[in-house]
Amino acid sequence: MSSAIDLLKEYAETGTLKALPLGHFIDGAFAQPSHNRTLESFDPGRSMAFARFTAGTAEDVDQAVMSSRAAFETVWRDTAPVERARILQKASALILDNLDLLAVTETLDSGKPLQEALGDVRGAARTFEYYAGACDKLQGDSFPLGPDHIGYTIHEPVGVTAHIIPWNFPISTAARGFAPALAAGCTVVAKPAEQTPFTALLLARILSDAGLPDGVCNVVTGTGRETGAPLTAHTDVDHITFTGSVQTGRTVMKTAAEEITRVVLELGGKSPVVVLADCDREQALTGVLGAIYENAGQICSAGSRLVIEKSIHEQFVGDLAARVNALTLGHGLEKPDVGPVNSAGHLAKVAGFIDRARERGANIVAGGSVTHDPATGKGWFFEPTIVDAVAADDELAQDEIFGPVLTVQVADDADHALELANDCQYGLVAGIYTSNFARAHQLARRIDAGQIYINEYFAGGVEVPFGGNKKSGFGREKGLEGLKSYCKTKSIAARIT
Ligand code: NAI
Ligand code: MG
Repeated sequence: MSSAIDLLKEYAETGTLKALPLGHFIDGAFAQPSHNRTLESFDPGRSMAFARFTAGTAEDVDQAVMSSRAAFETVWRDTAPVERARILQKASALILDNLDLLAVTETLDSGKPLQEALGDVRGAARTFEYYAGACDKLQGDSFPLGPDHIGYTIHEPVGVTAHIIPWNFPISTAARGFAPALAAGCTVVAKPAEQTPFTALLLARILSDAGLPDGVCNVVTGTGRETGAPLTAHTDVDHITFTGSVQTGRTVMKTAAEEITRVVLELGGKSPVVVLADCDREQALTGVLGAIYENAGQICSAGSRLVIEKSIHEQFVGDLAARVNALTLGHGLEKPDVGPVNSAGHLAKVAGFIDRARERGANIVAGGSVTHDPATGKGWFFEPTIVDAVAADDELAQDEIFGPVLTVQVADDADHALELANDCQYGLVAGIYTSNFARAHQLARRIDAGQIYINEYFAGGVEVPFGGNKKSGFGREKGLEGLKSYCKTKSIAARIT
């Protein structure tokens, strides 16, 4: 296995990595596409293309779905749960064996700092480990129908599952979809984002190396329009897990409605971090900083709104700004505090929010500009930014920016903080910092979000169900609840006398 040092050297010398695959992964191998059209993937830290991949078509998608359908019906749904478990456990070990290749690839493709990519890959291995342990514990219920009857449920796999994956957490999102789907006995066809196609392809090969039968996990690369749309519209797909924008999620849901295909939608957010005057200041400062600047704010569950109690507002934001100004920026491979954003188009979108805010007279207390890697003058960077004292109806408080921009909202007290926290179209997660145990749990009950973090933003792992309310979508991933998304409950009742 190549070490990170070897890979960095190879990239410095050749501008690419030879381990990156070109074709789709179909039927257990890298496949020839239906034509030779390719797309480029960019290294956001250098704003330069570094590898090519296949531009998939509806024909390629069809081949992948047929392969997954055949594998579902002839092999995987009837593979013993313990055997599925062994393969997923082996895959978890192989992901760790390939840690450096996967992490360096993820950093080049997405731009994220290498230490974060390493964390994502370890998280992906953990996800396979977790669901490996769940394969043979998918138990049903039995019902007390009296002496003449017997009644019970079984959890059947839903069938062929489509996974549409975004560019901000490519391997994490792939893992949190693939592992429970495979554990439940489903087969997979995935379409990674066109900005970050490679780790999903590498993951499919690793699963194959771990013993997954051919066709059980297929990956087709390409654009949303040419590859994603035909996959979600395919009549032989039984379930869609979609992670991405509200707009595309809406399109996917409408498409799914045609065939009554099941959907789980994970559509991002504008999550509040409520900081009350009685919090542990150090804990809250660290938490708020990580909540918004990790992955340059390109996290659906980023804590992008600081809702802070008035009495500590000035001091807290001052301390926070000092820390923000000290954050290092750089190419992901240099392990900076903050890396680039993923694309030129996305950088323009983030900058647009701040330009408009400036015109409205916004109080920008840190950052606020497009910038570059100080070492090379290249890359798509936006300075870590804080905009203070923003009104609840401002677009900065309502819309997902998906960049390193923290919006501050000032609350009179805990009740007002609750009101501000809920005054938003999204409801994915929320953070609460307070030393008052009872108040923390009162707020946790009343904030409309799918997951609440108390005194540690991003607390919890694969064990904890994750997903949104309101425009953040519906359905839950992770945890045993995530496994149930890939199952159909069948009830069986019989007369026995
Ligand atoms: P997007 O929702 O268009 O892309 C996500 C995935 O959907 C990609 O794999 C894309 O190829 C695919 N896709 C696009 N059109 C499709 C279609 N018609 N049918 C099926 N699949 C399709 O999001 P995009 O344009 O990359 O980002 C726009 C905004 O969305 C971001 O600025 C951010 O606010 C939000 N976003 C939220 C994410 C989250 O984690 N919830 C992840 C990525 C983006
Ligand atoms: Mg890329």
